[in-house]
Amino acid sequence: MTMMGLGVWLGLGLGGLPLLLWLLWWWNELWYVIPLKLKCSGTGTKLPPGNMGLPFLGETLTFLWYFKFLRRPEAFINAKRRKYGDEVGLFKTHLFGTPSIISFLPSANKFVFQSEDDFMLKWPNVELVGNSSLGKIKAYVEIKKATLENIGKLFVSLEPGHLLNDMDELFRGMVNGIRAYPLNVPGTAYRHALQCRKRLEAIFRVELEKKKSRNEVQTIDLMDGLMQIKDEEGNKLSDQEVVDNIVSLVVAGYESTSLASMWAIYYLAKSADVLRKLREENMAISKNNIGDHISSEDVSGLKYTNKVVEETIRMANIAPFVFRQATKEAEYKGYKIPKDWKLLVWIRYLHTNPENFEDPMCFNPDRWNEPAKVGTYQVFGGGSRICAGNMLARIQLALFLHHLSIGYKWELVNPDAEMIYLPHQKPVDGVEAVFSKL
Ligand code: HEM
Repeated sequence: MTMMGLGVWLGLGLGGLPLLLWLLWWWNELWYVIPLKLKCSGTGTKLPPGNMGLPFLGETLTFLWYFKFLRRPEAFINAKRRKYGDEVGLFKTHLFGTPSIISFLPSANKFVFQSEDDFMLKWPNVELVGNSSLGKIKAYVEIKKATLENIGKLFVSLEPGHLLNDMDELFRGMVNGIRAYPLNVPGTAYRHALQCRKRLEAIFRVELEKKKSRNEVQTIDLMDGLMQIKDEEGNKLSDQEVVDNIVSLVVAGYESTSLASMWAIYYLAKSADVLRKLREENMAISKNNIGDHISSEDVSGLKYTNKVVEETIRMANIAPFVFRQATKEAEYKGYKIPKDWKLLVWIRYLHTNPENFEDPMCFNPDRWNEPAKVGTYQVFGGGSRICAGNMLARIQLALFLHHLSIGYKWELVNPDAEMIYLPHQKPVDGVEAVFSKL
C-alpha cells in the first residue's frame, strides 16, 4: 500500500471512529424520536426527558448495572431524577427490547393505571405469562415446595411427587424469562422460558384430558371450575384457554406468595419485638380454637398480624414494576407518550422512597396504624387490572404467619447476607435459617 493509501485509510479510521461512536450513542434517539418529532402529531409535542441508550440494548446494561452489580435498584431512578428532574414523573428510555416510558411518582402512576383506554396491560414476554429441632433449611426453597404443593392440589388436584418437582423447575425457567430480553435464540433465558412453557402446557393438557374422560362432571379443583364456567351466551372456555388460565394463575400466585412468606421469615428473625407481638396475638387466638383450625373471621380479627402482612409485602417489592402499552398517542402534563411504546410503572420506587414512607427500609408494622399516603402503596398494581389474587395473597400470608409464630422459633444463618434483585429481590442465601419447634 502506498503512503497515500495508508493516509486515506488512517484518516477514514480516525475520522470514522468518532462518527461511528456518535452514531451508536444517538442511534435510538435518531431512530425513534426524530420520526415522532417530524410527524409532530397529537397534542403534546415533546417526549418526556430521558435517554434511549444503545441500539437494540437501549438502557438494559444500565438497568443490569444497578440491579445486578451495584444491587441498588432505587439508584437507577434516583440517577435519572438527578439528571432530568422529576417535575413530570416520567422518563423516556429503551428497556427489554422496546422504547418505553417509565413512570415513578404517585400522580404519574395513577394517570397510567387509570387511563385504561389509552394503556393496555402488556407484559414484555406475554408468551410466557434436639428432638424438636427441624435443622437448617433454606426458607425460600422449602416455602416454594409447600406453596407448589398447595397450588398443585387446589388448582389441578396433583399430589406431591416427581411431576410437581418437574413443574417447579419449569415454572422457574418460565419466570426467569418473563422480564428477560425477548431474544429467541439458543442459550437465552427467553428461549428457555418458551420451552418450559410448552412443557408445562403439555402437563396440564394431560390433566385436562383425564378430566374430560371422566363420566360425571365434578368440581374438585380450579381446573374443573374453569372447564365448567360459561359466558352469557353459554359458551365454555376452549381447552387452550383453560390451560392458559391455569398457567397464568400459577405464575402469578406461586412465586409471589413464596417470596412474601420468605420475606416474613427474614424480617421477623430480625425484629424480635415484632415477632413477640405477633406471637402474642396468635397464641391468644389459638387458645380459643381446637386443633389447627382458624376461620376467615379469625384472620380479619388479627389486627397486628394484618399489619405485619402489609409491611412484609411493602418491603418485599415482589413486582418492581408493571407493564402497559400505549394503544394510542397520549399526553401527560404537556409530554407526549407515543402510540405503541411500553410504559413501565415503577412501583417499587414508591415503597422505598422516604418522601412516601418514613424510614422506608425499617420493618415497622406499626406504620400501618395509619393508611399509606394516597397513591404511594401500589404493591398489587392499580386500576382495573389490579392483582386478582391480592386478597388471597393477604389471607395466605396471614395464615402462614399464624402457624409460623405459634409453632416455631428460628434464627438466620447469615443475617447480613447480600441482596440480589434479579429475577427477584431476595437475600443471596435464600434466607437460610435454623428452625426448631417452640
Ligand atoms: C404478595 C403476593 C402478590 C403480589 C405482590 C402480586 C402483585 C401483582 C401485581 C403487581 C400485578 C400486576 C397488576 C397490574 O398490572 O396493574 C398482579 C397481577 C395479577 N395477579 Fe398478583 N400478586 C400476588 C399474588 C397473587 C396470587 C396469590 C394470585 C392468584 C393465585 C395472583 C393473581 C394475579 C392475576 C390473575 C393477575 C393479573 C390480573 C389482570 O391482569 O387483570 N396474584 N399481581
